[in-house]
Amino acid sequence: MQRINLAVNGKPYQVEAGADTPLFWGLRDTLGLSGTKLGCGMGLCGACKVHLHGDAVRSSSQTPVGCVGDRQVTAIEGLSTDRSQPVLRGWIADKVQKGSYCQPGQIMQAASLPAKKPLPSKKEIDEAMNAKFAAAVPIREFAGPSTARRERLLDDASSGSKSA
Ligand code: FES
Repeated sequence: MQRINLAVNGKPYQVEAGADTPLFWGLRDTLGLSGTKLGCGMGLCGACKVHLHGDAVRSSSQTPVGCVGDRQVTAIEGLSTDRSQPVLRGWIADKVQKGSYCQPGQIMQAASLPAKKPLPSKKEIDEAMNAKFAAAVPIREFAGPSTARRERLLDDASSGSKSA
């Protein structure tokens, strides 16, 4: 066990954990951030995605707390405190079905895309989403935002627009 400094959702924290402890457990057990969900726990499904310096990463098995360093961690709770983040707003506006365990991970994956690719094509959106969640739920069949809607949300996110 050691004390590890983490910057999570814009605030500094110190967690006492082994360096190989998955970030997921640091977020949930130590910081009480329960919005990030555990699915497979094996790096397959993406349910545990958080942002690490803007990139969507799996926090359960592939991101030990000891490897985070000074990179900013954003968990679903920190994505938008007022729900104004475009992807999150779209998820709410489209009334994506409740109870799907992997939704926080899907939202985090979708929200990371505009930062990497400001104007992603439909194919790039589908690849980014389907590749990350192929083992869980093919997003095209998911009762969530339509592809056109997701494209618009991602356009909004990349331009900073707040239209929904
Ligand atoms: S729970 Fe993290 S990848 Fe499945």
